[in-house]
Amino acid sequence: MIDLRSDTVTVPTKNMLNAIVTAKVGDDVFGDDPTVNELQEYTADLLGKEAALYVPSGTMSNQIAIAVQTKRADEVIVDADAHIYYYEAAAPAVISGVQLRPIKSERGIMPIGEIKNSIRVFDDHFPHTALICLENTHNRHGGAVIPLDYIKQVKQIVDENKLSFHCDGARLWNACVATGISLKDYAEPFDTVTVCLSKALGAPVGSLLVGSKDLISEGRRKRKLMGGGMRQAGIIAAAGLYALKNNLPLLKNDHENAKTFAKLVSESEFVTLDIDRVVTNIVYFKIDAQINGAEFEEKCKQQGLLLLHLGNNSVRVVFHYQVETSQVKTAVDIIKDVLNNMIKRKM
Ligand SMILES: Cc1ncc(COP(=O)(O)O)c(C=O)c1O
Repeated sequence: MIDLRSDTVTVPTKNMLNAIVTAKVGDDVFGDDPTVNELQEYTADLLGKEAALYVPSGTMSNQIAIAVQTKRADEVIVDADAHIYYYEAAAPAVISGVQLRPIKSERGIMPIGEIKNSIRVFDDHFPHTALICLENTHNRHGGAVIPLDYIKQVKQIVDENKLSFHCDGARLWNACVATGISLKDYAEPFDTVTVCLSKALGAPVGSLLVGSKDLISEGRRKRKLMGGGMRQAGIIAAAGLYALKNNLPLLKNDHENAKTFAKLVSESEFVTLDIDRVVTNIVYFKIDAQINGAEFEEKCKQQGLLLLHLGNNSVRVVFHYQVETSQVKTAVDIIKDVLNNMIKRKM
């Protein structure tokens, strides 16, 4: 089976399992787990921030970031396709009691003028704008990379209005690999950054929130509140450390596989895809309107290829280091074959 549903589907390798088995552990709620502590220090250093907090998921990391940088009834500016807005079960409203202000973006880039216009003036009728969030790379925008120049423009608005600034960098690694910009440079404008070890890096579980010592210390309390305080978490942190130290260089290959896939699959007359938009490990494409998307997904599965139909004949595939380059062509052949047969049946 070739699994292109997500870069979260990787399974630990023998070496990663070995790191898990030999990990030194302690009770992390007491701050005693040496492997968790090492992972937190290593990640904070990598991103040039004072501190980091190990949490079970990217969603929890984003929600802690919101919780420590807002008060109830505040407003948070996010892109209308952001993971925080789209896929986190309304957690900002439930956990932090804040309202999200979504702005339509072009590939994760909200127009600067609209961001400025969305910041509330002081008025008893209005919520208080507290936080702006960006997502880099952008999941629903096909792994789009957010340019550093743009981030700096938004940072200026953040500073002028005394707001806080959060980056959902679940796949920030991919942005760095695609642009050559360092993690430190990408993280610098933000107060807090989420990074995930369980996406393209291949760890089985775990994310980190990085930021100042004060924010991360408050974040530790919020993690407890959310039930995310873990005990001998070193066994999973060890896999995260292994992934960070060994798998970062492998992401380049995922980007190349995504590009090759995009080129080959776009040769089909039943596929619409803009190759120039494929810049990291995620590829979105549209299949012919005559085709039933759910049936297409099922037929690909029957031929040994897992992918995601996301509605509206939009299909997503994601590359990760457990997809061999030789499997790229096989995946494309399956897609073309399924499309050809489904169209033939319609005639
Ligand atoms: C951009 C982005 N942020 C956050 C998350 C949430 O991560 P998790 O599934 O670990 O909660 C995801 C998950 O795919 C994501 O793509």
